[in-house]
Amino acid sequence: MEHEATPVQPFGLLLEPKQSLDNLCDLDIDHLRELVRREHLIVLRGFHTFQDAESFANYCERWGRISIWPFGKVLELIEQENPEDHIFDNNYVPLHWDGMYRPEIPEFQMFHCVRAPLAQHGGRTTFSNTVIALREASAHDRSLWHKVTGHYQRKMEFYDSKTVSPVIASHPDRGFSVIRYNEPPSEKNGHRFVNPPVLSFSGIEVDELEEFHSSLRNALYAPASFYAHEWRVGDVVIADNYTLLHGREAFVTRSPRHLRRVHVLGNPPYVNPGLVSHQ
Ligand SMILES: [Fe+2]
Repeated sequence: MEHEATPVQPFGLLLEPKQSLDNLCDLDIDHLRELVRREHLIVLRGFHTFQDAESFANYCERWGRISIWPFGKVLELIEQENPEDHIFDNNYVPLHWDGMYRPEIPEFQMFHCVRAPLAQHGGRTTFSNTVIALREASAHDRSLWHKVTGHYQRKMEFYDSKTVSPVIASHPDRGFSVIRYNEPPSEKNGHRFVNPPVLSFSGIEVDELEEFHSSLRNALYAPASFYAHEWRVGDVVIADNYTLLHGREAFVTRSPRHLRRVHVLGNPPYVNPGLVSHQ
């Protein structure tokens, strides 16, 4: 089966079938895996996809070993009434990497859009390409970021963990530098941020912290390194979690937003080097 490939700006690749409703499962997975490693993000749009969570998980299993959470293989990302965590709120989610609080860090994030927010309702998933952010940064900013180590603590329904990571780290397989950073949440537009993590940053003086966060945030959200995916029903997005950071825009409450997400581990699985404690 053939497909059309179009670059996504500023990074990533959009793949669409030449004939509508070709089956996504028929695409060559070794080829797609190479594309994700090279481009860091692919969007598969217009294909015949998955009827339910189980068939999505079965497909993801063909990519590699799935990381099993307390809830199983598939996270159902749907806004909840009175959420106990920001993940299930309609608020924004700051940039972070997945698995930072887990024993193993997944290589691939697999998303399937079951229901998409209405137009102008927000809810895009945000991605920052940290290789581009590092490449575009000034030597001054890079050397500031190099000094810093992040200390993160988060307790929620699925874990209670502490992790420590240098802000500039090495890609686990390929050796190039990547940024590992959980952006401190802000209370935007008076919307309370539910269950924030406890974050601290060491390695620089207290009076350098503001410059550190603002320069890093500017680099990660710069047009050259930042992509926000506006969902359409049926979209499948596969992202390189070793290289990108991601988050979410706020969305209008009760806008129909339902994403399914699966974590696929690398081969061999990447044991989280920063995990201090986990339960
Ligand atoms: Fe995440």
